[in-house]
Amino acid sequence: MNLADTIAVLLADATGRLAEALALARPEARIEARVLLAHALKVDHAWLIAHDRDTPTPAQRDAIENLIARRTGGEPVAYILGEREFYGLSFAVTPAVLIPRPDTELLVQLALDRIPTDQTSSVLDLGTGSGAIALALAVHRPLARIVAVDRSPAALEVARKNATRLGLRNLSFLLSDWYAGLGVKNFDIIVANPPYIAAGDAHLDQGDLRFEPREALQSDAGGLADIRKIVAGAPAHLHPGGWLLFEHGYDQGEASQHLLRQAGWSQVCTWVDLSGLPRVSGGQRL
Ligand SMILES: C[S@@+](CC[C@H](N)C(=O)[O-])C[C@H]1O[C@@H](n2cnc3c(N)ncnc32)[C@H](O)[C@@H]1O
Repeated sequence: MNLADTIAVLLADATGRLAEALALARPEARIEARVLLAHALKVDHAWLIAHDRDTPTPAQRDAIENLIARRTGGEPVAYILGEREFYGLSFAVTPAVLIPRPDTELLVQLALDRIPTDQTSSVLDLGTGSGAIALALAVHRPLARIVAVDRSPAALEVARKNATRLGLRNLSFLLSDWYAGLGVKNFDIIVANPPYIAAGDAHLDQGDLRFEPREALQSDAGGLADIRKIVAGAPAHLHPGGWLLFEHGYDQGEASQHLLRQAGWSQVCTWVDLSGLPRVSGGQRL
């Protein structure tokens, strides 16, 4: 790089480096390069296009170089930017929380379909992480009272911060190992996106997952240990007629349905995500 490098030159350079380091197609690498340059320079995309012949200052070039080096080292874009969009809302994310995934929007939609808009109801979000699911529900169902649980104090701190950023008051947070800290409280709906990847699964050593908290991703018993605990504990915390809905791996639909049917749940069903893969299962307490 040369001192007279313009934004256009830096963008082209960053695109090439990202494409090579992360094996990205060029259009995807260019989008990432643009996002990272805009973040480093604290400008928006329109500014970048309008100023592509500008020459950044040495401090700005250092800031750009720092972000590109972090990304070529594999760090997820969401952690570099400190935020990720989910269900049309912006969430602060740190390495203490899972980066919310588009697949999880299916779980939010299924829960919204079952939460009334015109009367109060109670919702439990198990393993809230950044608060993505709980906060999306809180925004779209202001009459619902939501309890968001996580075992990680650092994750709960991020979720609380996101609730404050969104100005939400219809939810509370609880540090708990699944249901352990809830006492006798019952809910109309329980939602969960628990850890469900089996130990030793090759995906844990690839892409963004390498940087995400292991306790948010991995579960014993071939990935099903936490799902089993959540299914087993749900009847004691649901009102009759209440729903349990949980996300799982693309190959865990059958096992999830089996667990639910064995425990006597009604309306047992598995729903597919945007890629057509089984992603959420659930049932209704009789
Ligand atoms: C897959 S992440 C889901 C985060 C968020 N709900 C989302 O969908 O983006 C699973 C979350 O469950 C939490 N967790 C794992 N084991 C737990 C347990 N025994 N009790 C409560 N939370 C737990 C993790 O800390 C993590 O935040």
